[in-house]
Amino acid sequence: MTTNAAVITTIHDIGQYEGREVTVRGWLYNLRESGKLLFPQIRDGSGVIQGILAKNQVSPELFDTIKSLTQESSVVVTGKVRADKRAPGGYELDITSTTVIQRVPDDDPYPIALKEHGIDFLMENRHLWMRSPRQAAILRIRAEIIKAVRDFFDDRGFVLTDPPILTPAACEGTTTLFPVDYFEEQAFLTQSGQLYVEATAMALGKVYSFGPTFRAEKSKTRRHLTEFWMVEPEVAYATIDDVMALAEELVAFVVQRVLERRREELKTIGRDPAVLEKIQAPFPRLSYDEAVKMLQEAHAAGKIENRFEWGGDFGSPDETYISSQFDRPVMVHRYPTAVKAFYMEPDPQRPDVALCVDVLAPEGYGEVIGGAQRIGSYELLLKRIHEHGLPEEAFKWYLDLRKYGGVPHGGFGMGIERVVAWICGLEHVRETIPFARTLHRLYP
Ligand code: 4AD
Ligand code: MG
Repeated sequence: MTTNAAVITTIHDIGQYEGREVTVRGWLYNLRESGKLLFPQIRDGSGVIQGILAKNQVSPELFDTIKSLTQESSVVVTGKVRADKRAPGGYELDITSTTVIQRVPDDDPYPIALKEHGIDFLMENRHLWMRSPRQAAILRIRAEIIKAVRDFFDDRGFVLTDPPILTPAACEGTTTLFPVDYFEEQAFLTQSGQLYVEATAMALGKVYSFGPTFRAEKSKTRRHLTEFWMVEPEVAYATIDDVMALAEELVAFVVQRVLERRREELKTIGRDPAVLEKIQAPFPRLSYDEAVKMLQEAHAAGKIENRFEWGGDFGSPDETYISSQFDRPVMVHRYPTAVKAFYMEPDPQRPDVALCVDVLAPEGYGEVIGGAQRIGSYELLLKRIHEHGLPEEAFKWYLDLRKYGGVPHGGFGMGIERVVAWICGLEHVRETIPFARTLHRLYP
């Protein structure tokens, strides 16, 4: 059985061909039978469409081929496009011919049947699981978020810049470094491009990087990956207030873009757009002191278990509580200098806190952005490098940025997977990236 020379289309665009013969190239997602009718559901990556064949209207050959087709067999089908209000995408296909490209054997069927499976099984089969409409919709939203981020910066005069991935030293603490043997020297996979991005900001003014970053996180939480993608803007002459304004504008822009362009996918994954529609600037700004007060009051009222003491970094339950008090992201600024990274500028009014900000997403998603104004003074930066036990030699070039035309500057890092998890309303970041790397998983 060969297919006619009909126009080839994707399922997404099939509405343009109503009443005409088209060819769709995809896979058999599901097959229903009802009396003398067959309803194969074909997916092609752009969508799913239901085909129809009536036994008395097509050749026995065609009918039997489809009838015996196995799940996820690759198949090319040709048929007439018919509008149908009840169909999920608004159209159905009256199939007239088909070519089976590869039939999945009956004795070795596609492992992911259309029923509930455990998460371990699904992660083992991630290379196949991502074909499911829900997973595919999440990956499409991820791509939209990445495009939105790029458009946001590109349209605002930022220059894309690529920091190295192999680095000689830590940026975000020495406990989460992945060592690499670099021709018998010790190197590490980058935790953040920030330090290098600062250098390019001094060359280009406003820059951003977007790339993979690595943390040997021993934490097995729903927010942590060992390999994740981070976007890091850095701006010469920016203060902490500029950093906060930029973070707020970016987050609001990205959410709006998803609402504009990925409604269908949000529907597929069951995410209520009304929750996202509230994500409009300005976001509430809360000092660390105020956030601590909020946590202590919640403890006194019996709403949270442990009393939070001033001076520590927030844990997940603390962040969850704070963010649950707001219907949009909250920007917590000025954390104690002692619990934050070595490069953060102390508040001149109060040096025990740093000019930094964490953006906490609503609904308990926690920190999606971490940023700061960077230390301007050469002497202070050198002192911090020593205090944090970092090798001065490896930071000589970074110190140069304070020696040759140092300016106030700042930026932030936004973790793409955390943002995708929040926007999609997912339980775990492992579904936000094609192949998640976590504490105990390096497969597939
Ligand atoms: O707060 P972090 O550690 O900040 C930095 O790395 C700065 N150097 C960024 C900068 O100022 N240029 O990480 C930034 C963001 C976090 O807010 C979070 O969204 C994400 O990166 N992130 C992770 N995402 C997934 N898994 C992990 N293990 C993550 N660690 C951080
Ligand atoms: Mg952080």
